[in-house]
Amino acid sequence: MRPDYPLKTERLVLRPFEPGDLDDLHAYRSDPDVCRYLYSEPGTIEETQQRLDKSLTMDELTEEGQWLVCAVTLDDRVIGDVVLKWVSEKDRQGELGYVFNPAYQGNGYAREAAQAMLRIGFEEMGLHRITAVCDVRNEPSWRLMERLGMRREAHFRESEMFKGEWGDCFIYALLEEEYDGTA
Ligand SMILES: CC(C)(COP(=O)(O)OP(=O)(O)OC[C@H]1O[C@@H](n2cnc3c(N)ncnc32)[C@H](O)[C@@H]1OP(=O)(O)O)[C@@H](O)C(=O)NCCC(=O)NCCS
Repeated sequence: MRPDYPLKTERLVLRPFEPGDLDDLHAYRSDPDVCRYLYSEPGTIEETQQRLDKSLTMDELTEEGQWLVCAVTLDDRVIGDVVLKWVSEKDRQGELGYVFNPAYQGNGYAREAAQAMLRIGFEEMGLHRITAVCDVRNEPSWRLMERLGMRREAHFRESEMFKGEWGDCFIYALLEEEYDGTA
């Protein structure tokens, strides 16, 4: 499955990452606040280059287990990225993720881009259920999941060691029958 790029939303354009996106990507992937609840740590420019090199090839899904990675652009600048994992072909499951530059948060851009990924998941891939996971302290993330119409299905307590301490996480999900394309 390869989306019909560029994916246009009301205010944004989603497209595969390009080699010239390094500075925009590094601007937020090197920010400790952005990485607080991500598994990754703030990257050096070399580490961001490696991330970008990997992302350049993640513009389509050919088998389960892969992540689709889209650069979210506003006026030709990358302001964040949204991802969709093809978790299971048999069970038609996917997983959504998002990371945005703080300079562009608080404008509904993450929601707009995430909606585009839900549309790909449900309408183009025919997924049955899309989940999202976050640290319970990551309120901006779970509030976004709720704005997308996702339901909180689980609160796992101390289910993993996260950055040196026990971490609690929320699991949210949306079923195809609950998706109406307007979230
Ligand atoms: C999670 C994250 C993407 C959420 O970003 P966000 O900008 O808060 O999310 P949205 O795009 O839904 O924007 C919502 C905010 O924009 C405001 N807004 C302004 N104009 C808006 C518009 N036209 N439409 C919708 N919302 C709008 C909303 O009121 C809301 O503000 P509030 O949080 O003060 O209530 C962001 O916090 C982030 O990148 N965090 C770091 C990385 C991370 O933790 N990712 C998740 C890992 S699980």
